[in-house]
Amino acid sequence: MNPHMLNVAVPHDWDRRGLPGWAYHSPALLELEKEFVFRNHWQIAGHISDVPNPGDYLTMDVVGERALIVRGKDGVVRGFHNICRHRGSRVVAEDQGNCKNALVCPFHGWVYNLDGTLRGAARPRTFPELDKEEFGLMQLDLEVWMGFIFIRFHPGPQPSVAELMSPVAAEIAHYDVANMLPSWGIWTQTSPVNWKSVRDVDNEGYHVAMAHPALQDLYGATYFDEPFLNGVSRSFATYNPHAGRRWSVRNYVKIGPEQQRLPEHLRKAWIYYGIFPNNVITLTPETVQFYQEFPLSTGETVLRGAIYRYADESREQAAARYLAYRIDRDTMAEDVQLSVWSNESMLSQSFSGFYLSDLEYGVRTHHDHLRNMIPVLNLESAPDEKDMASLNTALRSHT
Ligand code: FES
Repeated sequence: MNPHMLNVAVPHDWDRRGLPGWAYHSPALLELEKEFVFRNHWQIAGHISDVPNPGDYLTMDVVGERALIVRGKDGVVRGFHNICRHRGSRVVAEDQGNCKNALVCPFHGWVYNLDGTLRGAARPRTFPELDKEEFGLMQLDLEVWMGFIFIRFHPGPQPSVAELMSPVAAEIAHYDVANMLPSWGIWTQTSPVNWKSVRDVDNEGYHVAMAHPALQDLYGATYFDEPFLNGVSRSFATYNPHAGRRWSVRNYVKIGPEQQRLPEHLRKAWIYYGIFPNNVITLTPETVQFYQEFPLSTGETVLRGAIYRYADESREQAAARYLAYRIDRDTMAEDVQLSVWSNESMLSQSFSGFYLSDLEYGVRTHHDHLRNMIPVLNLESAPDEKDMASLNTALRSHT
């Protein structure tokens, strides 16, 4: 069986430069990224098992937008802007919880039903009659795909999630992802770099042999990347059952039993699917996981993710899941350091840009997707900050 699915060959003569250095430190560019990349592309909010019961909710902030995901009394998971229709307070302040049978705004006490319609204002006689729909919470685009909850703040260039993910759907379907359960909940942390520096490191495996001793030990010889095609990338590796230089790896390959629910060719596979612009779904025999990054500023990024497990996992599979988490934790700490070094170099007058290996073609294809959305990124020299938006508008009208 051909393990390659996306059929993206590296061209013979491709442009090995990455984005210009100015793109990693420009506040005006960040505003364009918010508009053309983050608000109008699908984002993973979580998994249906994060909100299993009516009234369960989770929230997330993305580039100044606030999302609220709630399961209704009818069992339907809906997405709303976490913005009270009275004066804009957060309707829900916590990251995750249960609101019983109504959402009560903590500012003046307006009450919303779990389907987002307004149940009533506090002191209703002080208002004209309020239409329950018109003053209900504003809905977000939301699509549940294989158990993952995807949201979008504005309509955008991507098709439905099902269509977007169709090239890899058959492979993911083997894992019964929709029926998995949370392992340790949704985590977040911040990193002192531009969000693209996080993604650049994650979009290539060229650095694995040098920078990730545990991953190299686990699967280094078998790892390969397939670059972004129509918004989706894929990286695939199978672990070496005899790996053992590192404690976590040695015990992972020893303890993890063969996952009988998977076909033979996936029982030792670690697979990573990149979803433009900033989401990754990863599969191991024991887990499914998502992670993503959102800019807080040009030089600060939130990392967010969660790991999910099988409901019927054995003790050995639970132990393997924990060891896989340890391997990932070390890898992430190593990646954070690499992204810091790369990101800070772009403030140096001596930084002369990337010069990419064939093994980093995924970095280039991600940058190409960004260039399509924001054509000012084709300019080697930084435009004036105050001209950035109008110049980009002019360039977009010519593409
Ligand atoms: Fe929500 Fe006033 S802002 S009740």
